[in-house]
Amino acid sequence: MSRFINQVAFITGAGSGIGRATALAFAEQGAQVVVAEVNELSGRQTVELVEQAGGQALFVACNVASPVEIEAAVHQTILAYGRLDIGVNNAGIGGKFARLTDQTQADFDQIMAINVGGVFYGMQAQIRQMIKQSGGKIVNVSSIAGIRGMAMGGPYSASKHAVIGLTKTAALEYVRKNIRVNAVCPVYTHSTMVDELISVAPNLEDRMRKVIPIGRFGEPQDIAQAILWLCSNENEFCTGQAIQMDGGLTAG
Ligand SMILES: NC(=O)c1ccc[n+]([C@@H]2O[C@H](COP(=O)([O-])OP(=O)(O)OC[C@H]3O[C@@H](n4cnc5c(N)ncnc54)[C@H](O)[C@@H]3O)[C@@H](O)[C@H]2O)c1
Repeated sequence: MSRFINQVAFITGAGSGIGRATALAFAEQGAQVVVAEVNELSGRQTVELVEQAGGQALFVACNVASPVEIEAAVHQTILAYGRLDIGVNNAGIGGKFARLTDQTQADFDQIMAINVGGVFYGMQAQIRQMIKQSGGKIVNVSSIAGIRGMAMGGPYSASKHAVIGLTKTAALEYVRKNIRVNAVCPVYTHSTMVDELISVAPNLEDRMRKVIPIGRFGEPQDIAQAILWLCSNENEFCTGQAIQMDGGLTAG
């Protein structure tokens, strides 16, 4: 199946985890993929993986906390591929695992700059281009921590709630411009971020897994498939939603 032939997908944080799986899945379906990543080594590795699988990808160095860098990355996308159909604002950090009173102003500011700033500036640059092209699709990566509180992750949870607020607002503002904007909210998903988290205590993974009704963590491909559907032509009617990819966690 080649659902994204002649389409260009711009993915932030595509050097690892969910972003890399999303880049590979889009490329497999025919999209030209832009890997917008702060980590040059891992970003270039994703490009290599896409090319080895027969796809087309471009690495663009980009710190999503900088509006100038995101704007420049979208500009490079247009120079290279001539258009932008899909924006996936995925780059994010987990921040410090600590109670509110042990989080510093620097901890708070950093997580807001990347997790919220990255989505805000990313959507600004993507939407400006999509308006010129008469439409597009955007998916922002929030979290189950954007729906519920997260003990020991106050700034992270706040940042992911903010991502949903921005998503819903952008969906309302640009729905008549033929731009669909949604968020996905993954539960624990195997990636660099979560593998670091579970390494801090023995048996932590087992304990975390037990709370997920489906009985396992997410895999990056699980989340990528939801992102692809939201960005596909099969989705014309879903916008402004925060889709919970959580193995049933929030069903109860
Ligand atoms: N893994 C999970 O369990 C989980 C659950 C819910 C939400 N999420 C969200 O999914 C997204 C992807 O995370 P992941 O789990 O794949 O983690 P990851 O650490 O494997 O990947 C994150 C990527 O973002 C990049 N990045 C970080 N800061 C950046 C910046 N300033 N500019 C550009 N790129 C930057 C990193 O270099 C890395 O490649 C994040 O927004 C995260 O909050 C993850």
